[in-house]
Amino acid sequence: MKWFKQSAIGQYIIKARIIAANQKEMGDYGRSLRGLSLAESPKSKPDSIIESTYQEYVGSISTADKVISYELVAFLWHILQTIKPKLVIDLGSGFSSYLFRYYQSTAVEPCRVISCDDSEHWLERTHHFLRTKHLSSDDLMLWDTFITQCNNESPDLILDDLGQIPARIKTLPQILSLTRPQTLTIIDDLHKYQLRRSVLGQLPSMKYHVYDLTPITYDHFGRYAWMMTLRNTNDDHN
Ligand SMILES: C[S@@+](CC[C@H](N)C(=O)[O-])C[C@H]1O[C@@H](n2cnc3c(N)ncnc32)[C@H](O)[C@@H]1O
Repeated sequence: MKWFKQSAIGQYIIKARIIAANQKEMGDYGRSLRGLSLAESPKSKPDSIIESTYQEYVGSISTADKVISYELVAFLWHILQTIKPKLVIDLGSGFSSYLFRYYQSTAVEPCRVISCDDSEHWLERTHHFLRTKHLSSDDLMLWDTFITQCNNESPDLILDDLGQIPARIKTLPQILSLTRPQTLTIIDDLHKYQLRRSVLGQLPSMKYHVYDLTPITYDHFGRYAWMMTLRNTNDDHN
């Protein structure tokens, strides 16, 4: 059945099953992507510099299964062009740090990017890569420093791709406590059952809506992301 899983129709069916299962798991907290403005425009597609830098990063610094998927890169680029954030929190440094800082270098309005990692080694590698690309290497810090010193920031966009899955589960409540009504929080690797359970467990108490980004971010490793937004309190009366 390996051939079936790898075929286009096989992939289509697997993706459709995941979307249906996710809808069921999310229940009333789930929101449709139809509610989001995701209209394609040429400006919101990653340019050739992003594409070639992604190939370079995957080939020489990291590996494709560790770096955010190109599907997620494309979605994040679209979001950046659409919401034009003033503050981005990039949790789990690497190519995502390049992407956000490339955006920062091209944005008309100032945009601060804070990139964190729980590994000094990967933070250092990210620092070096950003320097070789002549991008800002300001605001690169360890997670522990960030969460004790910068926990009063008001982010427009958070990418949660920090460390390994146990660390992801442990830090999730702290990350969600950073969110404000305008914050879009994108959490990667929701194909991991334990992480999904952990996110779903936060929904009732944290008053969140959750969007399944599988239709847009599903990749050939079977990875996908979800997005969370704070629920409008008026929704509670509907
Ligand atoms: C999924 S990776 C983060 C990827 C990052 N957002 C990116 O776009 O490249 C999660 C964590 O694994 C570590 N990491 C990054 N690249 C790695 C690699 N090639 N091998 C092992 N660990 C890696 C870092 O500590 C990082 O916080």
